[in-house]
Amino acid sequence: MKKARICTITSVKGGTGKTTFTLNLAATLKLMKKRVLVIDLDVAAGDVAARLDLAHEKDLYNCYEDIRNHTFEQIEDYVYPYTEGIDILSAPKDPRYASKIETGFLTYLISKVSLKYDVILMDTNHMLSPLNLVAFDYSDQIFYIMNNECMNLKGMRTMSAIFEDMESDKMVVVLNDSTKKTTGEYTISDMKNLMKREVDYRIPQSFYQKKYDKYVMNGVIFLLDKKVRKASSRAVKVYQSIAKGLLKED
Ligand SMILES: Nc1ncnc2c1ncn2[C@@H]1O[C@H](COP(=O)(O)OP(=O)(O)OP(=O)(O)O)[C@@H](O)[C@H]1O
Ligand SMILES: [Mg+2]
Repeated sequence: MKKARICTITSVKGGTGKTTFTLNLAATLKLMKKRVLVIDLDVAAGDVAARLDLAHEKDLYNCYEDIRNHTFEQIEDYVYPYTEGIDILSAPKDPRYASKIETGFLTYLISKVSLKYDVILMDTNHMLSPLNLVAFDYSDQIFYIMNNECMNLKGMRTMSAIFEDMESDKMVVVLNDSTKKTTGEYTISDMKNLMKREVDYRIPQSFYQKKYDKYVMNGVIFLLDKKVRKASSRAVKVYQSIAKGLLKED
């Protein structure tokens, strides 16, 4: 049986569009008929379940505790289907539990889910925390979602040097121009010079959604909305190339 492709979504600064990216990549993969598990590994501040209006009882902390107590039976007891093809394992509802989660559980969790899904997307935060580092280890690709801003570029330069030092080719840089109405001031060539690295993919500014909050209020992922797909054909193509790159398909 084929094992899932695993990836972590992270950044060097907060608010660059990681969660929006994760959910739209999940939607893209679902439309390609893949089975996707989204793990909200932003353990203290994860908002995937809230965004998707998921009525869930169990979360990552319950899963962690049951693994620790040897009472974990099956992942189906903890994941919630958002729609056919997309399951969600949400972050702890109570953020006070976040610091109790020990990193070792991820090894067990991944072993339990990797044969059940085509892709596992782990949405994280911008910290190099022990948990995120373990997620990196299990990932085939690590997506860095960055914005066109000075401190993002400086942080990305440091991070790409670290990946080079580790001789890791897992880093995928996604420039996200869609979080704001306006694009930033640096050109792609400025960015390359500042980061000492290429941008791998660019989500166009045309993917900016004026009604972002409405989608969140209604628990809808934009790319599952036909109207958005029609109006954002460039972004759709970028997401499809990212998905194919992750699946290693042409
Ligand atoms: N396509 C978009 N259209 C409009 N606004 C967007 C879009 N993507 C992101 N945003 C804006 O950027 C904000 C941050 O996005 P998001 O929550 O996905 O980032 P994040 O990197 O996950 O943040 P955090 O670091 O807090 O987890 C959103 O609340 C929204 O205001
Ligand atoms: Mg987020």
